[in-house]
Amino acid sequence: MILIFLGPPGSGKGTQAKRLIKEMSIPQLSTGDMLRAGIAAGTELGMKAKAFMDKGDLVPDSVVIGLIQERIGASDCKPGFILDGFPRTIPQAEALDRMLSGLGRSVDRVVEFKIDDQELVSRLSGRRTCPKCSAMYHVVTQKPAKDGVCDQCGTQGLIQRTDDQPKVIQDRLAVYHKQTAPLVGFYTQQKKLRSINALDAPEKVTDALKKALK
Ligand code: AP5
Repeated sequence: MILIFLGPPGSGKGTQAKRLIKEMSIPQLSTGDMLRAGIAAGTELGMKAKAFMDKGDLVPDSVVIGLIQERIGASDCKPGFILDGFPRTIPQAEALDRMLSGLGRSVDRVVEFKIDDQELVSRLSGRRTCPKCSAMYHVVTQKPAKDGVCDQCGTQGLIQRTDDQPKVIQDRLAVYHKQTAPLVGFYTQQKKLRSINALDAPEKVTDALKKALK
């Protein structure tokens, strides 16, 4: 099954993708994670992307399309995959359709995570991530058992993403509404879109997501 999780920053795409990949045994393809890995490794692509990401802007289409094209050809993507954070523009969505059609495949379902901007600001400003295994926490709603220590791998020193600062969060939301939200119409036309309420507690969102995939 080829799935797209579409929603604003902080709507819970990553949280839900991590839950679902365990059950479905398919990989999560997050362009944000791929770009951050490039930054951490100091690659040329990572350095180029950093300037855009730090401001909350989208990285150029050609860069992310290239990343996804390379990734979906890998053997672990044969049973399907979850696209988390891609596509984010109409040209990216059109490029994805072309790529998949070249492989004799197509997108099965697009799930829109619907939520108000106000909730997103508190979710993102409180988010903390493990620098080693990428497990996610929140300073109020999802604390680790031991302060600052990852429950899953024991790494000390959970970090705050550089783009989770209030000013950058506002810019990311504006970019979402202008450049990414038009994809709702794009996939409605293709009759592939299902919308879920992403404001609910994580367990309830997972239930809604599973229903949307049936
Ligand atoms: P990316 O890494 O994709 O970030 P994003 O889309 O902005 O999404 P987030 O990871 O911030 O949020 P999420 O929806 O996954 O929420 P999460 O589950 O983490 O992109 C970063 C940057 O990379 C972009 O700005 C851009 O520059 C670049 N980029 C990436 N892809 C690109 C592309 N295709 N084209 C161009 N540029 C690209 O949850 C957030 C917090 O909320 C967590 O603390 C979590 O614990 C909490 N939470 C989750 N669910 C719930 C719930 N139900 N109730 C309460 N709290 C919850």
